[in-house]
Amino acid sequence: MSQNRKIETMSDFFNNRADIYDDHMIKELDLNVFYDEIAECIPKNRTNIKLLDLGCGTGLELERIFRIYPLAVVTGVDLSSKMLDILKAKYKDKMSQLKLICQSYFDIDYGNGVYDVVLSTYSLHHFSRELKLSLYRKIYSSLKEDGIYIEGDYTAKTTDEENRFIVESERIRKAGGITDGLYHIDIPFTAETQMNLLRQAGFKRADIKKQWDKTTIFVCEKNLKNVNIHAIRI
Ligand SMILES: C[S@@+](CC[C@H](N)C(=O)[O-])C[C@H]1O[C@@H](n2cnc3c(N)ncnc32)[C@H](O)[C@@H]1O
Repeated sequence: MSQNRKIETMSDFFNNRADIYDDHMIKELDLNVFYDEIAECIPKNRTNIKLLDLGCGTGLELERIFRIYPLAVVTGVDLSSKMLDILKAKYKDKMSQLKLICQSYFDIDYGNGVYDVVLSTYSLHHFSRELKLSLYRKIYSSLKEDGIYIEGDYTAKTTDEENRFIVESERIRKAGGITDGLYHIDIPFTAETQMNLLRQAGFKRADIKKQWDKTTIFVCEKNLKNVNIHAIRI
């Protein structure tokens, strides 16, 4: 739990590790199963989709989505230019369908009723409840009426663990004299906290699609309409 390494800004952290990122996620952490599950959550009943990927990084999650919807129109947002460079090199043949924005997803407007799917994988576990809630509200508004939000991320197992992460993140910020800005400090919440925030943001349904020891995939419907998946409702 104690994060004793040097604390880096979010962009420095990922710029400095972009070259080894894919191998770390796929070979060391063996996350193919996770990305398969994410692809399972994508609704299959549409002719094409417009997708917003928040914290798209090198685009690991996009590979399978392009297999389902080869013509998917994707907006990817990430504040690490090095991660985005790798994504661009991987998806050269998709550049006419890809719009990449190198900025913080907290700082940009997503529009209203634009996307079939908003997706975020392994990106949001660094932010406070307040920031997440404001982001979830923006995501909710940006979705079409039958749109869905999919999030796969680290989660805490218990409220005690969640609280320890919060206390530790405050300690790190204080020790580093950090008052503002985006830093790579982990604050995973419990699935329950997540579900509460998602419902507060307006989602009519929020389900846990899959849960592992430290990771949960949530699928949220803007309205009670679509999602053709088998989910555990809580
Ligand atoms: C662990 S990587 C995940 C990348 C990709 N989604 C995946 O599953 O492989 C987290 C990504 O989120 C990005 N990120 C973190 N905070 C962000 C923010 N506020 N705005 C935009 N991108 C952010 C980082 O730069 C990094 O590329």
